[in-house]
Amino acid sequence: MGHKVAPSLLAANFLNLQQEVEMINRSEADWLHLDIMDGVFVPNISFGFSVLEAIKPILTKPMDVHLMIVEPHKFIREVACAGAYIMNIHYEASIHLHRTVSAIKEAGMKAGVTLNPHTPINVLDDIIKDMDMVLLMSVNPGFGGQKFIEQSVEKTSRLKDLITRKNADTLIEIDGGVNKNTAQKLLSAGADILVAGNYIFKSPNPTQTIKDLKDL
Ligand code: DX5
Ligand code: ZN
Repeated sequence: MGHKVAPSLLAANFLNLQQEVEMINRSEADWLHLDIMDGVFVPNISFGFSVLEAIKPILTKPMDVHLMIVEPHKFIREVACAGAYIMNIHYEASIHLHRTVSAIKEAGMKAGVTLNPHTPINVLDDIIKDMDMVLLMSVNPGFGGQKFIEQSVEKTSRLKDLITRKNADTLIEIDGGVNKNTAQKLLSAGADILVAGNYIFKSPNPTQTIKDLKDL
């Protein structure tokens, strides 16, 4: 199976969200990545569930929701009702990770766990088989358009090793500073899904840029 591309709506033109979503629908994008920030877990505030609800009727691709919020377990119902295919919560924001992952799956969604750049892979040793996806942050979460942390390539390889060793079928998604160059290295290291915000939406032809990332 080839890799997936998930454009991040954070870099879209919010004045023209309908056209941006229609562009995603027409493109080869596999998922739409949606970044929800609370100004507490990360030093920025983005958008909330009402934006997801608004795009839900026109979006034809699965929603990949990335919650950069404290106490994400309190919002499982809201995220499911907003139409999420997969709900990604942060390891660093979850005291009872196993309970929250189970509750996400019980709510009918796939469960993803996100690691900040400084969080080691081995914290997932005892839960990797229960998770549908690991979202590795290749920048510090909170803002689009940041510089890719090179160490993320080697971290991706180590995560891939853990998944193989545990005989799990967990997917690996990478988020932050992804462009054609970094994407190539990440795919060689074992990434399954590439998130890209600025590289896609700020390019002259976003549909073509999505295709370029798909064709790698
Ligand atoms: C950052 C977000 C990312 C962001 C990526 O905290 O989680 O999804 O939109 O943006 P780029 O691809 O521009 O680094
Ligand atoms: Zn994200």
